Amino acid sequence: MVQGDIMKIAVVGMGFVGSVTAAVLADQGNDIVALDIDSEKIERFKSGEPPIFEPGLNDLMARNKNNMEFTTDYHSIRDSDVIFIAVPTPTINGKINLDYIHSSLKSITPVNRDAKIVIKSTVVPGTGTRMENEYKIKIVSNPEFLREGMAIYDTIHPDRIVVGGDPEYAKFVAKIWEFTKAPILITTRENAEMIKYASNAFLATKISFINEIANLCEKIPNSDVETVAKGIGLDKRIGPLFLKAGIGYGGSCFPKDTQALISVAEELGEETKIVKASKKVNEERIERIIKILNKKFGALKGVKILQMGISFKENTNDIRESQALKLYEYLKNNGAIITVYDPLNKIDGLNYCNSVFDCINDVDVIIIATEWPEFKMLEDMKVKIPVIDGRRILDPDKFEDYYGVGMFHD
Ligand code: UGA
Repeated sequence: MVQGDIMKIAVVGMGFVGSVTAAVLADQGNDIVALDIDSEKIERFKSGEPPIFEPGLNDLMARNKNNMEFTTDYHSIRDSDVIFIAVPTPTINGKINLDYIHSSLKSITPVNRDAKIVIKSTVVPGTGTRMENEYKIKIVSNPEFLREGMAIYDTIHPDRIVVGGDPEYAKFVAKIWEFTKAPILITTRENAEMIKYASNAFLATKISFINEIANLCEKIPNSDVETVAKGIGLDKRIGPLFLKAGIGYGGSCFPKDTQALISVAEELGEETKIVKASKKVNEERIERIIKILNKKFGALKGVKILQMGISFKENTNDIRESQALKLYEYLKNNGAIITVYDPLNKIDGLNYCNSVFDCINDVDVIIIATEWPEFKMLEDMKVKIPVIDGRRILDPDKFEDYYGVGMFHD
C-alpha cells in the first residue's frame, strides 16, 4: 500500500478529476479532505452514492471511508500538507475562465498558507505564476491526463507524471505519485501547463486527421479507413491509438482545450493553424451523417430514427459537448422523429426507448452515435433496415444495408 509518508491531502472540487484523485490517494493511505462548495454533492458522497459515474469509484470510496472526510467547510483543510485544486476551468466566449480557481484560492489562503498548493485543473500557460504573484503563495502545476470512464485506472497507471514549479515543491508533490512507478517529469510551471494543452491538441488532431482520411476513403472503391488506420498505426512512430474515425470528438476537454489554445496563440500574436483545422474538421463531422441520410431518404422530415448513444463516448453519462447530442439536435430541428437508446443516460425531454428490441420495428434507420461496446448486440438481431455506423463498432457483414463512416459507398 503506502510507499512514502502518509500525508494530509485536501482536494478542492469534487468533479470527476477531484473525486478520483481523492479516492486513489486515500487508497494509498493518505488522510483526505474532499471539499466542494456544492452541499448537495457532498451529501451524496457522504451517503455513499457519488453524483459521478466512474467505474470503480463507489467501491474505492467505500473501502476508504475512514480516511476520507467530505466537507463544504474550508476550515477543514487548515492542517493539510498539500491541497489539490481540481475545479472547472470552462471556456467562455472562446477564452478560459479562471473564476473557480480564484474563488478557491481566495478561500484557501486565509486558512492555510503553508500547504503546497497544486493546480490540477487545466489552465493556460502562465496561470500558475500569475496566481503565485497575486496570492503570495507557492503554486505547483500537476496536470492530469486521465480519461473519463478509465479515470481510476489512468490515475494508478499513468503514462507519465508531470509536475511544474519550484523544484523543491515540485519534488515534494511528485513523491505523492511515486507509487504509480510512472516516469516523472519535473519542469517549470509553464512547461507543465503547456504539456497538458499540447497533449490534448495533438490527440484531437490525430482524430481529425483520420476523419479527413475517412472522408477520402468513402469516395474510393474498395477502401476502408479502419484498415488504413491499422496500417498506419503499425508504424511505431505513429502508433495505433486515437485513430478511430467517427462522428468526431466531444467531451469536456478536447473542444474546450483546443479552443483555449487557439485563443492563447492569438494573444501571443501567433496562429495555431493545425489546431484550428482540427477543430473545423471536427465541426463538420455531423454533416457527413446528414448527407448519408439525405441520400437515402431525401428530406429528414418524418424520417423515424433510432439513435444509439447520446454520451460523448462509451462508459460515461457525460453529455458535455457530445457529438451524439449535437446530431440528435440537428435531426430533431429538421423534423426527424427520433428515439434514443443509451445504456446510462435519460436526459429530460428526449424520447428514450428502454430496449432496442422494443423500438427497432418502428423505425426507418438506425444510427450509431456513441461507441458503447454493447451496441454490438445489433449484429445478432438480423436487422433489415439501414444502419449508419458513426463509430465503426459493427461488423458490416452482419447487416443488409450498412453505411460505415470511412467506408466506400456510392
Ligand atoms: C481526454 C484525454 O484523452 C485525457 O488524456 C485528458 O486527461 C482528458 O481529455 C482531459 O483533458 O481531462 P476524455 O475527454 O475523457 O479524455 O475522452 P477521450 O477518451 O480522450 O475521448 C474524447 C473524444 O474523442 C470522445 O468523444 C471519443 O469518442 C473521441 N475519439 C477518441 C474518437 O473519435 N476517436 C478516437 O480514436 C479516440
